[in-house]
Amino acid sequence: MPDAGGHAYTPAIAEATAPVYERLKRVMPAVEWPFHAPLVHAINRLKEQRNAVILAHNYMAPEIFHGVADIVGDSLALARRAAETDAGVIVVAGVHFMAETAKLMNPSRTVLIPDTGAGCSLAESITPQDVRDLRLRYPGVPVVAYVNTSAAVKAEVDICCTSGNAVEVVESLNVPRVLFLPDRFLAAYVATQTKTEIIPWSGRCEVHERFTGDEIREFRGRFDELTVIAHPECPPDVLDAADFVGSTARMVDYVTAERPRRVLMVTECSMSDNVAAAVPDVEFVRPCNLCPHMKKITLANILTALETLEPRVEIDPDLAAAARRSVERMLAVKPR
Ligand code: 13P
Ligand code: SF4
Repeated sequence: MPDAGGHAYTPAIAEATAPVYERLKRVMPAVEWPFHAPLVHAINRLKEQRNAVILAHNYMAPEIFHGVADIVGDSLALARRAAETDAGVIVVAGVHFMAETAKLMNPSRTVLIPDTGAGCSLAESITPQDVRDLRLRYPGVPVVAYVNTSAAVKAEVDICCTSGNAVEVVESLNVPRVLFLPDRFLAAYVATQTKTEIIPWSGRCEVHERFTGDEIREFRGRFDELTVIAHPECPPDVLDAADFVGSTARMVDYVTAERPRRVLMVTECSMSDNVAAAVPDVEFVRPCNLCPHMKKITLANILTALETLEPRVEIDPDLAAAARRSVERMLAVKPR
């Protein structure tokens, strides 16, 4: 009988978790399930006892995304849903800035991040001092920060945005130019969608910067009727070669609504597995760039976090108040 860290795969667990495996079977071989099922079962039971919810980003591994998550989505959806939940404990299956955002929106709740080392190359590319220096260099120019930033950086800026609402946020400011940080490729994409002048920072996502336009053209040469959908953190030549550009949630919506025959999702590779499990009629071509930070979150450390109620996300209250304002201003911008 396989045993996942002291949690055995018993016939009762096999029966209780069978509906979850049914959703996953297209993307997970049956031999793997006995290693995940006992942890899935233990997490789902403990979640109820703790009055906890698990918010999971679209890049989580399928056993987390389909097995234990209560709320899934892109950064914008997770920020909105974090603001709405009445659970006492919020476990963020995502990276550290996402857990900080959940804590900003729910200061009185216990917010857990199963691995505090789950960072983000974009969030690490800019400091609060960098923002203060930019303000001296560009006096009076509003600063828009992608949510992929620390709470300390959010506290220094005027408003946040995500890849799902960046253009609306920039245009809501009604100014001729904005500083847009930290992702230079998202900044370049937004500049193609608005007349507002975009002054970028130099950050990059270590996962999306690796895709190239040549790679996309090579895939098109190898596969007929290929629909290419790309995340706006990709370099401009990749976006030029794509049929559709959008946040992770917009990618999911596009595939669910359009049902292309064959699709290439130019983003972190767990996304394709998570969506493929839900749309069996679409064939997925998978380039595989993993986000090493997202992959630090596992069923085992989610279970430990629920057992110990650690590691908790804590943010200094004054800093949190300033950072929260930037997130709330973003949430108040009407979607188009
Ligand atoms: P989304 O907001 O589109 O989910 O993107 C978050 C992210 O980290 C992408 O790399
Ligand atoms: Fe950060 Fe890129 Fe990982 Fe998203 S995929 S969390 S932007 S490093």
